[in-house]
Amino acid sequence: MKPVKLAILGLGTVGGGTVRLLQQNAAEMTRRTGRPIQITHVGTRRPRPDLPLSGVDQRDDFMALVREPDVDIVIEVIGGTGLARELVMEAIRQGKHVVTANKALLAEYGNEIFEAAEAHDVHVAFEAAVAGGIPIIKVLREGLAGNRIEWLAGIINGTGNFILTEMRDKGRAFEDVLTEAQALGYAEADPTFDVEGIDAAHKLTILASIAFGVPLQFDKVYTEGITRLTRQDVSYAEELGYRIKHLGIARRTERGIELRVHPTLIPESCLIANVNGVKNAVLVQSDAVGPSLYYGAGAGAGPTASAVVADVLDLVRIMNEEGDGQHNVPHLAFQPDALADTPILPADQMYTAYYLRLDAEDQPGVLAEVTGILSRAGINIDAILQKPQQNGGRIPVILLTQPVLEARMNQAIAEIEALPAIHQPVVRIRLEALDSQP
Ligand code: HSE
Repeated sequence: MKPVKLAILGLGTVGGGTVRLLQQNAAEMTRRTGRPIQITHVGTRRPRPDLPLSGVDQRDDFMALVREPDVDIVIEVIGGTGLARELVMEAIRQGKHVVTANKALLAEYGNEIFEAAEAHDVHVAFEAAVAGGIPIIKVLREGLAGNRIEWLAGIINGTGNFILTEMRDKGRAFEDVLTEAQALGYAEADPTFDVEGIDAAHKLTILASIAFGVPLQFDKVYTEGITRLTRQDVSYAEELGYRIKHLGIARRTERGIELRVHPTLIPESCLIANVNGVKNAVLVQSDAVGPSLYYGAGAGAGPTASAVVADVLDLVRIMNEEGDGQHNVPHLAFQPDALADTPILPADQMYTAYYLRLDAEDQPGVLAEVTGILSRAGINIDAILQKPQQNGGRIPVILLTQPVLEARMNQAIAEIEALPAIHQPVVRIRLEALDSQP
C-alpha cells in the first residue's frame, strides 16, 4: 500500500523522540496499520545530526512544509500559541490531518481548531497533550464512553511532581530540582507554566471538556502553583496522615462544574498519593466503573512520543477506511452540537475541605476564639494539631476542616486574621478525601 507521509514540525524533545520511535518500531507499526509510515519532511531551525533523518527534506520554512501536497499528516510539536496556531489552521485548510502535543494551543484555541477541522473533514489528534505517555484521552473519550463521569483528579504536570517528590524525599532545594527537570526535557519552555499550574490548567481544560462534554474554557480554571509551599506544611500534613500533591480537579456539581488546579492534601493511603517523580496519574470517578486510576510517565521524549505515534497510527487507520477523513470519535468526545453550556463555577463557589495553619501568640483563649469563628460559620473541624513554641513565643496551630463553600471559608479566614493574637497570613491548602462522594 502507498506509504503515509509525515511532516514533523519541531525537533525538540518531543519531535526528536518521535523521529526515534517511528524508526525504532517501524516494522511493528506497518504490521499494525498495513501501511509503511515515512517521515518525508521536517521543519526545524536547528537541524539535529544525532537523529536518523538522512534523505528527509529539512527546512526552516514551516508554512511551506504544511502546504507540501505530498504530506498526509502534519505533526505539530513546536509548542506555543503563535506560529503553532497558524500552522495547525493552515494544515486543516490544506485538508491534512494533524497530530499535536500542544495543550496550550488546544486549551486556548481548541474550540475554533476543532470547528475548522470538522468543516474540512480532517482530524486533529492530541493524545500527547495530556499526561505524556498515559492514554488518558482515549480512556475518557472511548474506554469510558458508556459512563457518566462525575469527577476526575490528576497529577498532570510531571515537572511539578518531580520537584515536590525530590524536595520531600531528599530535602533538595526547589531551584536545583527545577534545573534538573529542565535538563531532562520535562519542563515547559517557560517553566513558570509548570510550577504556577498553568500547564496543568491547560491539560485540565482538555480533560474536563471530554469528560463532561462542554466547550474548552481555559480562562475559567482556578489556578494556584506550588511555589509558595513550605517544607513545614509538607511535614505537618504528613504528621496528620496526608501528602501534598499538585492536583488538577474537575467535578460536576448540581450548581455547575468546578475546574481547579492547586496544591492539595490527600490521604497518604490513596494510591495517587504515592505517585512520585515525573509520573502522572489521573483518578476518574464514573457511574458504572466507580473509581479507576491511570498511571505512567507524564513528560519526557519517549512517553510523549509514544502518544504522538499512537495518534499517527489512529489517523493512518482512518485514512485506510473508505470515506477518507471521516472520524467517528468526536474531538471533544460528544457531538459538536451536543456540547452542554453547564456553567463553570467561580472560585468562591468551590466546595472543599481545608488545611489551615495559624501563626498564633501563645496566650489563653486564642484557640477558643478561632474555633468560635469557625463554629459560627458552620465549619466543622476534623483535626487540630498544636506545635510547641517557635519564633519568639509563637505557636503553629494546624486545623483540618470538613468540606465548606469557599466563600464561607474566605470570610472565616478574614475574621481569624483580624484577631490580635494571630499573625497574618493564615496558610490555607485545600484537602480532598478523593472518595466516591461528590
Ligand atoms: N512540562 C510538562 C510536564 C510536559 O512537566 O508535565 C508534559 O506535558
